[in-house]
Amino acid sequence: MSRNILILPGSARLGSYNRKLASEAMRILSVSDAVVSRIDLADYPLPIYDGDFEADTGVPQNAQLMAQRIAAQDGLLIVSPEYNASIPPLLKNAIDWTSRVRKVHERPVQPFKGLVVGLASASPGRFGGMRGLEAIRLVMRALGAEVMTQQCLVPRAAEGFDEDGRLRDDVARTSLEALCDKLLDTARSLSRNA
Ligand SMILES: Cc1cc2nc3c(=O)[nH]c(=O)nc-3n(C[C@H](O)[C@H](O)[C@H](O)COP(=O)(O)O)c2cc1C
Repeated sequence: MSRNILILPGSARLGSYNRKLASEAMRILSVSDAVVSRIDLADYPLPIYDGDFEADTGVPQNAQLMAQRIAAQDGLLIVSPEYNASIPPLLKNAIDWTSRVRKVHERPVQPFKGLVVGLASASPGRFGGMRGLEAIRLVMRALGAEVMTQQCLVPRAAEGFDEDGRLRDDVARTSLEALCDKLLDTARSLSRNA
């Protein structure tokens, strides 16, 4: 049975290394039997989370749409930079709002619970965004996701991609391929929609 896999870049920046890495993951996963799609946070603008706003207005429609998409997945690949050794606010805010969604089409929903999550990061620095992924791991676990130990780090990302946005380094490519394989395998065996 084919599985639904969603790729979520944690940066909306034009020229983002993480969006390039997400595109590479998309190319790798597209040749599998999975149904692969991608969500871009620029397409789902959200206010900064505010409890008073939520009490007055409810959860914004974009968060509900994201929750609906995420709830339909077997696996999620988050490809995100680190900001000050942690999770970028754009991504954290989107996750926080999405975690507030309780129902989709009148059905109770916990968008991240039981979801198989893989993590990847590209960074211009030496550590490849490793510390940011630890922060994302904590958040995803708190929401009940099955976060895979295996991850993909692309350090020195400014030199890491060619003019077509393809990974230059075989080690990085092999690591991303292995992560995508593992994500698919795990989503097949642990799927909450099995
Ligand atoms: C507020 C801020 C904090 C950052 N902190 C880190 C950091 O802790 N480690 C790191 O490797 N890069 C850090 N960077 C640099 C980002 O990795 C770099 O801007 C990267 O290009 C962002 O990812 P993107 O290319 O996918 O947009 C930081 C950038 C900003 C704007």
